[in-house]
Amino acid sequence: MGDITIESSKSQSLNIHSRIQENVARLYNQFPYPNYPLLARPRWQDGFLASSYFSRRLASQGCGTCHAAGDVLVAGCGEILPYVIRKWEDPQVSVVNIDLSHRSLARARLRTLMSRGKSEFHEMDIVAFLDSCHTKGRKFAHIETFGMLHHMADPATAVAGMVRQLAPGGTIRLMVYNSPARQWIHALQDYFAGIGLGILNDAPVQATRRARDVLSDFAARSPFLADRLRAVGTSTLNNPARMADTFLHPHELRWPIGRWLEIFASAGLKLLGIFDRYGELDDLVNPLWLESSTLKIETISSALADRAADRRFEGNLELIWVQDGQEEPRANQDKTVNNNQHGDHLKRLKFCMPPHIWFDFEETRHLSTLCRLRIWHAFLAEGLDARKIAASAWGNDPRTLQRLARLGAIFPDQLDSAHAKIAAAPMTEFMTPPDFPDHAPLAQDGDAEPHASAIRTLDEALNKAIE
Ligand SMILES: C[S@@+](CC[C@H](N)C(=O)[O-])C[C@H]1O[C@@H](n2cnc3c(N)ncnc32)[C@H](O)[C@@H]1O
Repeated sequence: MGDITIESSKSQSLNIHSRIQENVARLYNQFPYPNYPLLARPRWQDGFLASSYFSRRLASQGCGTCHAAGDVLVAGCGEILPYVIRKWEDPQVSVVNIDLSHRSLARARLRTLMSRGKSEFHEMDIVAFLDSCHTKGRKFAHIETFGMLHHMADPATAVAGMVRQLAPGGTIRLMVYNSPARQWIHALQDYFAGIGLGILNDAPVQATRRARDVLSDFAARSPFLADRLRAVGTSTLNNPARMADTFLHPHELRWPIGRWLEIFASAGLKLLGIFDRYGELDDLVNPLWLESSTLKIETISSALADRAADRRFEGNLELIWVQDGQEEPRANQDKTVNNNQHGDHLKRLKFCMPPHIWFDFEETRHLSTLCRLRIWHAFLAEGLDARKIAASAWGNDPRTLQRLARLGAIFPDQLDSAHAKIAAAPMTEFMTPPDFPDHAPLAQDGDAEPHASAIRTLDEALNKAIE
């Protein structure tokens, strides 16, 4: 009897997993993400964070050497990252792209047709793919997974598989949602589900248009929603793929920040850094340079949770981890990458302009093209001496140095110890929580069901989100 109960609960959970996967695949087959025009040429330098080079540089701080390169896995690759990452990676290594959506993979394959180096594409669930790698003994030097884990039924199993298939000293870069900051989005998702509007029930493109019209009506009536939707921007509201991804997703986990940190830490990874894309964590020590920090994961977790609770931190969680406890930083054992050739590969990148985000902050905007190129070339240089960077490159302004260091443009090993100390320090004593306009109730007398109940729940949830 006991065995039968266990078996039936196992098969129930398998059913739930496969239903979630089916729905997620349907969404991204209908709307490959992020749905850039096929003929657009993305500025791939802006994807520096996704490169194995960036994570390796972070991981090698303190030990003076760059970890060896090896094959790169892109888990939940979508349609653009395979192209961006292929541009960054050494042509000698394979970029292995996994996604549930065959349309995303087809678009990604098309984009990489002319790229140097090998790309593989597999239409598969990531856990099944990692299991097949386990059987074949295939390991990866770096794993990139941006925006996938929170759409899974059981991300912990995927994370455990990733860590298992990571070569010694390998790195993982990931993005998962900062759920506490998305309460208002969750409230709208629940409203749309409550009135039966969704890409699985309706004609998908029409559903996104209807949702957009509903949102613009809500924004006209609620100052809070007007403010929030303005922040989301027309690039999302007018793009069916992004509308569906944000407001009509069939499966988005709503996990607290600590739970995400916990599954990575307990899988045997060490947190190298947090990428603070919007400069919301300026009152903390440089969150990207945690390599040598003695901060406990619980301390980091509660610092982020406190800031998410009062809205000082609204960005998503962008984290870089390294496999912990490996005595020798070695990557993919069956493939030895020739470091001279890798240097040549980086030299080619120098002919492009640096990432936009480095110079998009008030502290960095003023830097001349010459300074920007000096910082970029030092970032790409092979060999520690070539990378060293003089204070004139950041105009001798400590705040400019601090911002650049937080954005990953300058690493500790490029600086003397006095400047490294400045770059690691907090930029300010405290950050002020943002003020939000009030929410005006959307429910009206005479509302008909199911809208009437759903809108009452929405009003309550939005009022709670502002508290
Ligand atoms: C929001 S998109 C992000 C795409 C890409 N990483 C990017 O940042 O542009 C999430 C992607 O993860 C894929 N995905 C979700 N669950 C997956 C799973 N279990 N196995 C493989 N891919 C999955 C989806 O099909 C989708 O393409």
